[in-house]
Amino acid sequence: MARVRKGGNYRKNKDGKRDTYYWKAKEDGFRSRAAYKLFQINEKHELIKPGDSIVDLGAAPGGWLEVAKQLTDGHIIGVDLQRIAPIEGIETIKGDMTSERTIEKILKKVGEDGVEVVICDAAPNLSGNWSLDHARSIDLTTCALECAIKILKPGGHFVAKVFQGDMFDGFVHKLSRNFAFTKSYSPKASRSQSAEIYVIGKKFLSAPLKKGNKFDVEITEIGSDGDGVATVDGFVVFVKDVELGDKVNIKITDVKPNFAFAEVLKKNTN
Ligand SMILES: C[S@@+](CC[C@H](N)C(=O)[O-])C[C@H]1O[C@@H](n2cnc3c(N)ncnc32)[C@H](O)[C@@H]1O
Repeated sequence: MARVRKGGNYRKNKDGKRDTYYWKAKEDGFRSRAAYKLFQINEKHELIKPGDSIVDLGAAPGGWLEVAKQLTDGHIIGVDLQRIAPIEGIETIKGDMTSERTIEKILKKVGEDGVEVVICDAAPNLSGNWSLDHARSIDLTTCALECAIKILKPGGHFVAKVFQGDMFDGFVHKLSRNFAFTKSYSPKASRSQSAEIYVIGKKFLSAPLKKGNKFDVEITEIGSDGDGVATVDGFVVFVKDVELGDKVNIKITDVKPNFAFAEVLKKNTN
């Protein structure tokens, strides 16, 4: 089984195309140089821990699956358009992650419990047309996010590759509506001339509300710091500038894994 080694001198061929990580992957026995990207992402952002179950979207040839297997002894499922040569203990699905049929297969394997982490290194076939490739990459990553929303456990994590471009900020905004923390990160193992970047969502918000949602609520308690406390479907919301018993129309301003903050839009008079 592949084992990562740190450091070392690695050959390049004369045009420099076979870089350090290519040779390192060969030496360490990984299926792809991409393996080191996941090691570096995980070292920096602590997404995968022992016992976690993982779905890897766009997983062929399987470098990330090999890394995932070193980081956790949990259930691992790899999905790709291409067949993934078997890796002991890892389940694979050959299918298009953007299709309902594949999502159903993933849901069936994951079961009702969900998974702790969804990772996605999927890349569209490159056309060489920058904006087209960017748009296709955003499409794929959006499908990965939609899949993650269906299968992540509350508090779970997500990482996906995106090619940078003008739709990047919109995607990060969408991500931030579903996770408590979002980051973007470029691991050293990404080629320096590459347009790819990895977007990370930590602590999946399974709250029954999202930033910007509006609700009519009653303030049932005043918290120790003076904020009013209301609940929406049992989820605690802290509301500023209210009194006990106030009936108010609120707008959610921030969502944390276990509670949310809101501002008052209107005091209701009955
Ligand atoms: C860069 S490779 C992934 C490398 C992998 N992380 C590794 O370490 O070996 C990108 C993969 O995304 C897959 N892919 C692209 N579009 C896909 C789709 N719609 N559904 C499933 N896989 C897809 C490609 O087939 C390709 O194998």
